[in-house]
Amino acid sequence: MKETFNVKIIDITGKKGYNEYLHKCLAPMPFRKYKCRQEYLEKAVPRRLRKKLLIVDGAVVGTIEYGPVESCGYPISGEHVIVMNCVWVLRKAKMHGFGRLLVEHMVKSERNADGFATIAWENHWSPWFRKDQIERLGFRSVDSIDVVHKTKRKGHIFKVHLMWMPTAERAKAPNWNKQELLQGETFCMAHPLYRPQKWKGKILGAKQKGLAGLN
Ligand SMILES: CC(C)(COP(=O)(O)OP(=O)(O)OC[C@H]1O[C@@H](n2cnc3c(N)ncnc32)[C@H](O)[C@@H]1OP(=O)(O)O)[C@@H](O)C(=O)NCCC(=O)NCCS
Repeated sequence: MKETFNVKIIDITGKKGYNEYLHKCLAPMPFRKYKCRQEYLEKAVPRRLRKKLLIVDGAVVGTIEYGPVESCGYPISGEHVIVMNCVWVLRKAKMHGFGRLLVEHMVKSERNADGFATIAWENHWSPWFRKDQIERLGFRSVDSIDVVHKTKRKGHIFKVHLMWMPTAERAKAPNWNKQELLQGETFCMAHPLYRPQKWKGKILGAKQKGLAGLN
C-alpha cells in the first residue's frame, strides 16, 4: 500500500523564530549565529535569496536554498539564472520523492527563470553534493575543474562541476569564476567547501592543465 504523508514546504527567509534553521540548517551541530552566515544573509535576503523547509508529518526533514545569481553563495553568473545553494533531504526521508518535490517547488516559484544552476562533485570524500545525486534531480554538468583541498586530504584530487538545468528554450548556460571558486565559500559552515575565517587566500588548489596559474 502506498504511504501517504502530510507534506508542507514553508518559506523561512527572514522570518522570526527560524534563526536556528537559517544559521545551521539541518546540520547536527550546536546552534550559534556566526558572523559570515549573518553577513551573507544580510546581503543575500534583500537580493531575493530564499530558504525553505520541507516538513513531513510535522518534522523538518529537508531544505532548499536558492536565489538569483546576485544573491547566491557561489561565483556563478548568467542571465535569468537561479542558483541553488543547497538542497538536502535527511537520510531518514530519502527516496520518497521529496528531493524532486523541493526542486520542482523551486522551479515553479521562479517562473521567470531560464534555468537553474548549482555545483556538485566527483571523487570527494564527503557524501554531500555528489554529482550523481544532483543529476538525478535534473541537472547536468556544463563545466568542471580538478582541484585539491589545501587543508583536508592533501593531494586528493576531486572534480567540481558546474551543474545546469535549463527550463526555457532561450536559456543560455551559466558561467562561473574559477578563480573565485578556489576561494571556497563562507555562506554555510557545514559545506565541504567552507573557508574558515582564519584562513587567508584560496582553500582549493587547481589541478587542471592550463589552470595552474589559478593556484
Ligand atoms: C539528493 C537528494 C536531495 C535526493 O533526495 P531524495 O528525496 O532521496 O530524492 P527523490 O526521492 O526525490 O529522488 C530523486 C530521483 O532520484 C532517484 N534516486 C534517488 N536515490 C537513488 C538511488 N540511490 N539510486 C537510484 N536512483 C535514485 C529517484 O528514483 C528519483 O528519480 P525519479 O524522480 O525519476 O523517480 C538527497 O539524496 C540529499 O539530500 N543528498 C545530499 C545533498 C547534499 O549534499 N546537500 C548538502 C548538505 S550540506
